This record gives sequence, structure tokens and C-alpha cells, in this order.
Amino acid sequence: MSFPLKSIYSWSLLLLMLMQFIPLNRINPPVVYDFKTPNVIKIMLKKACYDCHSNETKWTSATYIAPLSWLCWLKVSKGRNVLNFSTWDDNKTEQVKLQKAKIRKVITEGAFHQQLYYIWKTDTRLTDYESHTLTHWLSDSQKEQPSEIKNSGNNRQDKTL
Ligand code: HEC
Repeated sequence: MSFPLKSIYSWSLLLLMLMQFIPLNRINPPVVYDFKTPNVIKIMLKKACYDCHSNETKWTSATYIAPLSWLCWLKVSKGRNVLNFSTWDDNKTEQVKLQKAKIRKVITEGAFHQQLYYIWKTDTRLTDYESHTLTHWLSDSQKEQPSEIKNSGNNRQDKTL
């Protein structure tokens, strides 16, 4: 009876080993624009958001071990797609306004965004002070919100996030 159990272990081990050979595109493309904002703000965003929302992802050794690597890769790809500080163009004012409003929403709702990541990397979590500072910085754009966000920001009736 010990044979099947042994073979399950062997097959799982083999599968895990094979998983490691599936190539993933863990590259950091060039930074196209340097996101123009006060340094204090940038430091906070770099700490908490840049791993998934910039081309400056820190691919730590854990991100090379499958299947965790697949999850990380997926999050970074999706994250960069919706918001990328490395391609953030301040001249596109309408787009910037919309992005800032979305960022504000994510920060206000704090703990709900990417919980697993912040449990894994607790030191990247924004402190209350940092969240407050960021919200303050973003509040300029809040005054002139684009219509898509205007009715959903603070009344918390919009559950799309
Ligand atoms: C672990 C990766 C990861 C981290 C860290 C992360 N995000 Fe995201 N973010 C994502 C992914 C993936 C999405 C795509 C949709 C989703 O799953 O919510 C996203 C979506 C977003 C969106 C778009 C929401 C919308 O409605 O279109 C904003 C804005 C955003 N994140 C802001 C932030 C900010 C601000 C931080 C830092 C405080 C941050 N994110 C940290 C992965 C991350």
C-alpha cells in the first residue's frame, strides 16, 4: 500500500521541478516618463505600489519559484496594464485626473487592495500617516473629478473595486 503514496509524492515533486522550467517574462521595461511629483509622495508610492504599478518591480528570489512566480507575474502584468507610474504622462491631463481619482479610491479603501501582497510584505504597507499624506496630495484632483468617478468616490456605494 505504500507504493501509491510514494508515487504520488514522486510525481508531485517531478511536477514541481518541471514547473520551474516554464519561462516567464520577468522583465522591467524602460521607464518612459519620470512621474513628476514631490519626492515624499514618490517614496511612499514606490514603497507600496511600484512593485505592481511600475517598470521598477523588485523581482525578489521568491518570485522565481513556481507556482508563486506565476501569481506574481500575473499581478504585475495586470497591475501595469491598469496603472503604470513609469509611463505616466503628466501632459495627458484628463487621463491623469482619472488615474488620480482611482488611486485615491484605492488608498481610501486601504486594506482591501491586494491583501495577500501586504500580508506577505508587511513592510510595504502604507502607514496611517502615509495614507493621509497621499490622500491630501490627491485631493486636488478630487475637486475636479471626471464624471465617471464623481458619484462613486466617497459615498462608498460603488463596489466595483
Ligand atoms: C501585488 C500587486 C499590487 C500592488 C502592490 C498594488 N496594486 Fe494596484 N492593482 C493591482 C492589480 C492586479 C490591479 C488590477 C485589478 C485588480 O485586481 O484590482 C490593480 C488595480 C489598481 C488600480 C485600478 C483600479 C480601477 O478601478 O481601475 C489602481 C488605481 C491601483 N491598483 C492603485 C494602487 C495603489 C495606489 C497601490 C499602492 C498603495 C497599489 N495599487 C498596489 C496590483 C497591485
